[in-house]
Amino acid sequence: MTLLDDSFDPRITGTFLLLLGGWLSWLLFEHVKFSRKYKFPPLVPGLPVLGNTFQIPSIDQGPYLQKLGQKYGEIFTLKFGRSYWVILNSRRVAQELLEKRAAIYSSRQKLPMAHDIVSGGKRMLLMPYGDQWRRQRRIMHQILNSSQRRTFEPFQDIESKALMYHLLTQSTPWYLCLGRFSNSVIMSVVFGRRTELNDPHLSAVYRAQEEFVPYLMPGSSIVDTFPLLANLPLLKRLQPWRRKGDDLYQRTLQVFSKLVDDLQESMHNGTHKSCFMSELLQSEKETFSKAEVAFMAGTLIEAGTDTTRTSMLELIAGTAMYPDWVPHAREELDAVCGANAERLPSFDDIDKFPMIKAAIKEAVRWRPTNSQTGIPHALTKDDEFEGYRLPAGTVVTWNNWGISHNPEDFDRPECFDPSRFLDENVDKIAKGHLGFGAGRRLCVGSDVAANNLFIAVSRLIYCFDVEQDPAHPIVVDKPFPLSAEAEPYKVIIKPRTDAHRELIFRECSEAA
Ligand code: HEM
Repeated sequence: MTLLDDSFDPRITGTFLLLLGGWLSWLLFEHVKFSRKYKFPPLVPGLPVLGNTFQIPSIDQGPYLQKLGQKYGEIFTLKFGRSYWVILNSRRVAQELLEKRAAIYSSRQKLPMAHDIVSGGKRMLLMPYGDQWRRQRRIMHQILNSSQRRTFEPFQDIESKALMYHLLTQSTPWYLCLGRFSNSVIMSVVFGRRTELNDPHLSAVYRAQEEFVPYLMPGSSIVDTFPLLANLPLLKRLQPWRRKGDDLYQRTLQVFSKLVDDLQESMHNGTHKSCFMSELLQSEKETFSKAEVAFMAGTLIEAGTDTTRTSMLELIAGTAMYPDWVPHAREELDAVCGANAERLPSFDDIDKFPMIKAAIKEAVRWRPTNSQTGIPHALTKDDEFEGYRLPAGTVVTWNNWGISHNPEDFDRPECFDPSRFLDENVDKIAKGHLGFGAGRRLCVGSDVAANNLFIAVSRLIYCFDVEQDPAHPIVVDKPFPLSAEAEPYKVIIKPRTDAHRELIFRECSEAA
């Protein structure tokens, strides 16, 4: 007791308490001011300071938010550290905010770890709305939009033929065939080169991606939960999160750069095939640093691969469980390609198969896996909506899984029913659902995705019967596993007739 008394100068203790009291009063004052000025949609109860950070599960967040939506209504709020997330639970509110007010709802949240450090500020998907994003988005749009589709068709044609052959011979489990198809078609579109399952460069890309994705989860990094920590006057190298983040950034950059260097070498030798990156490197309209170019390529590979694979998984499960749409699609296919397997469907037939196009949209809607809770947007200006007042910086996302399952948005939502999309927008892959996002951040690769899926799905439905395994009914009460190596469900995929089997051997074996 005496020791303590001796070691503390009462004047210092008094000053300290005074400062602490002042700081707490300031915090309280700011809190009251903030609460008076802004009004959020119903807030899901959470812990003091941390909010809902540790309530959200690390997988299957879509079904979790769906349940919250059923309890809290069309629009509600979660709080992660200091950031407020407004969750939109109907197409109506998503359209009102993300589309109609896109001018102020198109940024991304501040992520000092996931974006500034691990991505070196160069991953377009996470870039705030501004000049750097606009420049990258413009050039991506120029190269990937539908007027460029002829550049990519030869790749999509060959990869879908390889897929048919692999599904027929079953040398690899069917779901790994889908993974190979999706990898290879995006690598071809972006780098003009095909991939094998064990391609070492590609494995390195996926390892980097697997390490990065967890940083997108709320609560995964203290500095993303409390971005103010990034502004503390600490030497950069003393920030405890830095070493790990810088290391991942350097490794990712190395992996992406190697792919660009290889392409540049083949362009130099005149052996390359025209692709996204060759167009970008030859473009004189925009100049980007080498690291920016590498991250643009990496972003496309990351954004395009798994989304294609999981959309195919959704289509196959939906077809096996709800096959009623298939005879209608086959009427269209057979009328063009022959009921007796005369030839494969091709891109020249694209306007003759509306049911296939509707089925692709339905696959993206039915069980959204990669963006089950949307890809969060952020608000750049204070805004008012239906009595709520939201501050700039609010994170706003659409509850993709919940909306896809909402009977007010989609009639009999649990059914895989492509005919719901047989309307005047059947050619517009991103219309009528939220699978490709909304507003100015809408997926920039949606035209490429539409063609990847069109050619693969038309050939699949023309050549194969897809059925449930009676011993293992497919269960779809949660999103499919994100790992490409996990068997998502059991299904039987077998050639429609011997003539279709022959057709695949004849037209696809070389591609495989
Ligand atoms: C079925 C396949 C696909 C689906 C379901 C899909 C879905 C999405 C979604 C939901 C977003 C976020 C939209 C938003 O924030 O509002 C997005 C963004 C993006 N997608 Fe896709 N995508 C697919 C295929 C592709 C492909 C093939 C590419 C590239 C070739 C691509 C490139 C991108 C890029 C670069 C972004 C970021 C856009 C930005 O932040 O401005 N995607 N995609």
